[in-house]
Amino acid sequence: MIDGPASTEVTVDLGERSYNIVIGAGLIAHADDYLAAVAPSRRVIIVTDENVAVLWLEKLKTVLSRANYHVLTRVLTPGEQTKSLDQIAALTDWILESGVDRKTTVIALGGGVIGDLAGFAAAITLRGLPFVQIPTTLLAQVDSSVGGKTAVDTRHGKNLIGAFYQPHLVLADTDTLSTLPARQVAAGYAEVIKYGLINDLGFFEWCEAHGRMVLDGDPIATRHAVEMSCRAKADIVAQDEKESDRRALLNLGHTFGHAFEAEAGFHDLLLHGESIAFGTLCAFELSRRLELCSSQDAERVRSHFYKVGLPTNLNGIAERHWTPDMILAHMRKDKKNEDGNLTFILVHGIGQAYVNRNVPIDTLRELLWDMLP
Ligand code: NAD
Ligand code: GLY
Repeated sequence: MIDGPASTEVTVDLGERSYNIVIGAGLIAHADDYLAAVAPSRRVIIVTDENVAVLWLEKLKTVLSRANYHVLTRVLTPGEQTKSLDQIAALTDWILESGVDRKTTVIALGGGVIGDLAGFAAAITLRGLPFVQIPTTLLAQVDSSVGGKTAVDTRHGKNLIGAFYQPHLVLADTDTLSTLPARQVAAGYAEVIKYGLINDLGFFEWCEAHGRMVLDGDPIATRHAVEMSCRAKADIVAQDEKESDRRALLNLGHTFGHAFEAEAGFHDLLLHGESIAFGTLCAFELSRRLELCSSQDAERVRSHFYKVGLPTNLNGIAERHWTPDMILAHMRKDKKNEDGNLTFILVHGIGQAYVNRNVPIDTLRELLWDMLP
């Protein structure tokens, strides 16, 4: 434990690759101390994006430089388009040109886009550089910085080229969320609710009672949401790091959500978290139509999403009508599919998610006709 501001630590228990997620306010001011415990040398590369650079990069650089770290920075264009093969080629080329060695730590300072890209660069450069996540969006603090999934998108779909590569440390400074636009906070909150919907009805009830406080930036509610989410994710990742089984549950809403995102062209009109939120509603509605889940539970989830301003339809996203075939074409490229069968995370109720590979195609088509813009 570092002698800094009050913080909570959650351990991701993966044997010799175990690491801590430190959660609290004001952590960046002590980043040098946290880093000293995990970085093999004082050479670091910070990868960030233009928005985050303006707000948080100087602070981090100053702290590290004062502690005699040799700091290089790479500032990228914000947005999902940056998670590309072109960008990974450019980033790894730049890292190599900068004269790294195997003890140089890559630090991702930013949201899920920067975390996924920098993590993949760390995974493949010199066959693996030490990696630290400093997530600055709610989505990244509750989900993407934890668990070691790194990836880029390709023309075939989302996250199709990547690696499992665990960080040495996740430093979730909740102060960084103070500068995050409200729409991004809401998009991240969709991933918070997910943990309740998967297997924790009590946490969903907490979300119903306190979700608004998280969206309004209440520090205590936010910290609780981040901690509960990280505990839930750490628990699942420790049981099934490479998603051979239980980890698939974390993809609730993703079979739909990734397909919607791809059809929208990874455009800012539909943020990743928003797409997953609407995908989650589709998963509940599909479960209801298959009589797996009660109408009351499906409606209760829809009502909470509506109250906190998450999308309950995709109207206004698309310039043209989307057909089920457009969405099915994306779903057929989903990583979770097996033997040509589409894979969905469906529910028997709130907190009772499970993997289903037998969704009747007619029911799915009908659902898409009804839900699509
Ligand atoms: P993002 O990284 O694009 O960040 C959202 C926006 O917020 C960007 O414009 C960014 O510049 C800005 N921003 C970031 N921090 C800020 C701050 N503190 N203040 C002001 N602006 C800030 O998006 P995201 O929602 O964080 O992440 C989405 C990505 O995460 C997707 O690519 C998704 O596939 C990925 N993801 C990965 C995992 C995983 O397990 N690896 C899990 C979930 C999502
Ligand atoms: N976001 C899904 C996972 O990390 O497995």
